[in-house]
Amino acid sequence: MDTIAGKTLYSGLPPGPRGMLIGGHIRHFGGAELLNFLLETARTYGPLASFRVGPKRIFLASKPELIEQVLVTDAKHYVKHFGARAFRPALGNGLVTSEGSYWQGQRKLVQPAFQKTRVRSYAVAMADLTEAMLQSWAPGKSVRINFEFEALTSRIALKTLFDLDDDGDGDRERFSDTLKLAFDLMTARLRRVVKFPLWVPTPENVRLRRAIAELDRTVQGFIAEGRSRGKSGDDLLSRLIFAKREDGSEMNDRELRDEAMTLYLASHETTALTLTWTWVLLSRHSRVEAKLVSEWRDVLAGKIPSADDIPRLPYTNAVITESMRLLPAVYLLGREATTDLELGGYRVKRGYTVMMSQWVNHRDPEYFPDPEEFRPERWEGGLARRLPKFAYYPFGGGRRVCVGNSFALIEAALVLAGVGQRYRFTVDPEAVIEIKPQITLMPAYDIPVTLERR
Ligand code: HEM
Repeated sequence: MDTIAGKTLYSGLPPGPRGMLIGGHIRHFGGAELLNFLLETARTYGPLASFRVGPKRIFLASKPELIEQVLVTDAKHYVKHFGARAFRPALGNGLVTSEGSYWQGQRKLVQPAFQKTRVRSYAVAMADLTEAMLQSWAPGKSVRINFEFEALTSRIALKTLFDLDDDGDGDRERFSDTLKLAFDLMTARLRRVVKFPLWVPTPENVRLRRAIAELDRTVQGFIAEGRSRGKSGDDLLSRLIFAKREDGSEMNDRELRDEAMTLYLASHETTALTLTWTWVLLSRHSRVEAKLVSEWRDVLAGKIPSADDIPRLPYTNAVITESMRLLPAVYLLGREATTDLELGGYRVKRGYTVMMSQWVNHRDPEYFPDPEEFRPERWEGGLARRLPKFAYYPFGGGRRVCVGNSFALIEAALVLAGVGQRYRFTVDPEAVIEIKPQITLMPAYDIPVTLERR
């Protein structure tokens, strides 16, 4: 029997030839100890560890070359793992959950809407909506930063994706809350050993079906409105409505609904978390914050930042890069083998899952000395170019790399500089800051702060 991070693992297999294969059975999976478990497993058992969760055999690959083999070299022999598939009830067959030639065709249709020049056109909405949030703030006011950034990125997503303004009648909150409820229910379902099909009317299934029906109605409304305009506008959905496949066909309503729901969800929570964690880190590193403020003073001199300013803000970009290293919003990826494969000298049988964790790789002392230290300066001098491809991968990689990565980086930089020039945050001394790893790396509790004018 081995013990890892305080957990007992029942060894079923002997250590592999390089002492890196473990056989074990984890009875309980979830909570912050999941992060320690991943890290300890990789540190103790090396680049490729293996364990069981319920009936599933899982590998944890933690060497950049192995991750490259899964996400790039052998990508066509893997599909998304069971965790991603569990969200099909809400996301349907959108980009995150679809596979094969259908995914490839959809990616081709969606990708052009995320070209750098297109994304830059969204920067105006990002800056305007940040400004509107700042107007509603006042020195001395107490806010929950996680909540504020979620509301802001949700407004930015609705505006840039659907050309929808938050008219204050609660529609945005309702949509966002319903989506959250659907996700909580699907996450709970994923963790159940016995899963009833969605048509079985258990109380949870009934709630989930109701939530999904409401989301469907809302998104169908966005699509109908977009179609009624008759031509493509600046928002992403209308670009998708009128985008043509090579054979001249367009997406139908169901396909549009799945992509719209996926993009809304994939876009706003991840960026909100990145902003929240960045501010948490800054609140503990006043030297970094002072250096940021000085960069903003020199480059922006109080003006609202635009997309053109971003390349002139190297320290701001380094802070975001370093924040996504230490607290990556997406901290775990999984793929399932569709055929028997070789990986790192081991056989990955058809149906086995390979997990890869940014939480683990981004803490590898070989590439990041003093990995637990928040030190944006490490990125100065071209570290990103020197690293192996999958030593740092907050946006994944290979053909399924995040389609919105430029969007996210522009949004994070504009919001960080826009907010930080005007306000500083003092985190409530009573606040409990704890990580709750769900599908993304969430804070376990709200993070209350008091606003002070800079
Ligand atoms: C800091 C913010 C973000 C982070 C950390 C992030 C992270 C990721 C990661 C790691 C993946 C790959 C998942 C996998 O391989 O299994 C991914 C995929 C994806 N992301 Fe993001 N993302 C962010 C923001 C966004 C934004 C702003 C959008 C859209 C506007 C977006 C849309 C998507 C989509 C559609 C996919 C699926 C792509 C595909 O499989 O073809 N993400 N994201």
